[in-house]
Amino acid sequence: MPAAGGVQGRRPLVGGNWKMHTTREEARSLVRELRSELDGLEGIDIVIFPPAPWLADAHDLLAGSTLRVGAQHAHWERSGAFTGAVSAHQLAGVVDYVLVGHSERRQLFHECDRATARLLGAALAAGLSPLLAVGETAAERDRGEAEAVIERQLLAALDGLQRLDGRVAVAYEPVWAIGRGESATPSQAEEGCATVRRIVAERFGADAAARARVLYGGSVSAATAGELAALPSGDGALVGGASLRAAEFAGICREVAPSGGG
Ligand code: PGA
Repeated sequence: MPAAGGVQGRRPLVGGNWKMHTTREEARSLVRELRSELDGLEGIDIVIFPPAPWLADAHDLLAGSTLRVGAQHAHWERSGAFTGAVSAHQLAGVVDYVLVGHSERRQLFHECDRATARLLGAALAAGLSPLLAVGETAAERDRGEAEAVIERQLLAALDGLQRLDGRVAVAYEPVWAIGRGESATPSQAEEGCATVRRIVAERFGADAAARARVLYGGSVSAATAGELAALPSGDGALVGGASLRAAEFAGICREVAPSGGG
């Protein structure tokens, strides 16, 4: 559960999504660098999402530190004849978080809303914290459908829940801002995060919405993290490209941590 510390008592969270980058050696040295830069940074949760084959290495190298490890993807079934898949259940004990519904999974691997709901439920059942990504494409935004897309993705993924489990965090990631080198503006990011919070309030009540952690993601850098972290509705960042550079990612985490973590 998020402890007190961030805006309105919500503890900030920064995720580093490495996507399909790094060799094993590169991954190991990045984890070591991140540990030496960030271990013990106060008032913030930091989680890295390395590629699947390096998860156990990351888990071992971060043992006893404050940094956490997450999986970029998992399958919802516990076990079975699912060649190539790894289940949330299998990942428990190696990771604490799992990404759900990242736009690359939705677009490149044709993951549907129903799949996000299944994985989110399986992650919670396996004792993991799901980090659900939602957000509209440029074309959807141009057609004035941004809010409707966020609402559809969010409600579908949370469909099976009676109440909003405190382990669920949501990242508003406008697809048009991912991997572009230019984030959404703070007002665009705030609008998206506020939309997420409004929909959570309508579905689960005002208290759940006030407690939920909502991140912004899309070309976050150390230069933009400060203003994005200061958003009234935002509680941190989901970082892609910049999470592969230890000093840059550490800079982002320090910008997001209350008073630089001090
Ligand atoms: P980016 O990726 O920071 O490289 O834009 C963000 C993401 O895909 O989560």
